[in-house]
Amino acid sequence: MNTVGDAYWNPQAHMPTARSRRLVITRGEGIWLETSSGERLIDATSSLWHANIGHGRERLARAAYDQMTKLETYHTFGRTVNEPALQLADWLAAEAPMAGAKVMLTSGGSDSVDLACKLARRHWQLEGRPGKKLILSRHNGYHGLHAFGTSVAGLGYNREGYGADSLVPETARISTNDLAEVGRSVLQLGPENIAAIIAEPVIGTGGVVGPAEGYLEGLEALCRQHDILFIADEVITGFGRTGHMFASQRWGIVPDIVTMAKGITSGYAPLGGVLVAPRVADRFFTGPDAPIFRHGLTYSGHATACVVAMANLEVLAEESLVEEAGRLEAVLELMVKPLRDSELVVDVRAGAGFMAGVQLREEVDADRIIDACQASGVLIRTIHDNTLQICPPFICTDDDVAQIVDAIDGALTSYGGPR
Ligand SMILES: Cc1ncc(COP(=O)(O)O)c(C=O)c1O
Repeated sequence: MNTVGDAYWNPQAHMPTARSRRLVITRGEGIWLETSSGERLIDATSSLWHANIGHGRERLARAAYDQMTKLETYHTFGRTVNEPALQLADWLAAEAPMAGAKVMLTSGGSDSVDLACKLARRHWQLEGRPGKKLILSRHNGYHGLHAFGTSVAGLGYNREGYGADSLVPETARISTNDLAEVGRSVLQLGPENIAAIIAEPVIGTGGVVGPAEGYLEGLEALCRQHDILFIADEVITGFGRTGHMFASQRWGIVPDIVTMAKGITSGYAPLGGVLVAPRVADRFFTGPDAPIFRHGLTYSGHATACVVAMANLEVLAEESLVEEAGRLEAVLELMVKPLRDSELVVDVRAGAGFMAGVQLREEVDADRIIDACQASGVLIRTIHDNTLQICPPFICTDDDVAQIVDAIDGALTSYGGPR
């Protein structure tokens, strides 16, 4: 028996199944993946929503090589810093949805959410309003799985089993898309107790759910009205997925804090970051009595990850991939919507970025659909509510999109009812 990898414990996995049905990805080139058994598959989900520029780009590998042979990294605690971290931060600030943003860098999305929530609470302590501690998040929202991310999870099962409703006690859920209900929750909980609302502009893992008309704009106005910080979690939507650099720009909102990761390097290196508006950041930058934000990670501003990010951002710009994602959104929407006609499908959600969710009936065995797609050369996965996630790289052709949708269509047609 082959015992290679016997020790590996997959995240979010039923391990007996994961071990017996292991799928080992060995290579990636463009939108294509190869498996250890020699299959060639289209990456219909951009891995975990991050392979935006596609796999196997030598340019990013060279950027990493050049930086590693010069200086792999040097920490950025205190007054020490490295050049790539400085350059990337300036680039991000220039592209941010808010003017004059400051930038903190992390190792990924959960790190960024943790930082953002801590910073929001710290802000109100410094403002002399210590009661403002609650972080509100939307039902169905996903914000990673560190202690804060777990606590604000809008997918209940990610919060369960730790002996408390919320690891960080001061959190509460708000309506996914009903603004009037959010307004009532805010009044009920008391604005004087609320530090921030965190929201994905387009809910990803929770099923690919776009914002209702006026929801994000209304949320921002509600936050302004009640002195609540607005954290836009752009870990999936950042760096082009909605046809704009940040989804906040598409919906015309100006958050106080933006969390990001994934598309910042397209997955070529683990990196995340947080954009902070002057309203929150300025006091930390001003005067001899400026407070210190006691937060940071060994790899905050990791030099190699930062040069990889910059090479990725150059590729996005040179190949106009943000605009291309916007174009592909319409292509995907047009092709995927007819899947609604299948009697196995409850809903098809598309039209809020180059991504879609095909929600299957509860009783449909999604694994069988996924296996059938794989047999047709398309690798796909399920997310919340028995929903198939479609979120391909921005370098797809229209034919590639058609192949993804055709594979799902074929899988639905041949399903043949429960076994
Ligand atoms: C919106 C959102 N926030 C945060 C995270 C957590 O990011 P990471 O898995 O890099 O920690 C994710 C991951 O999928 C996400 O989709």
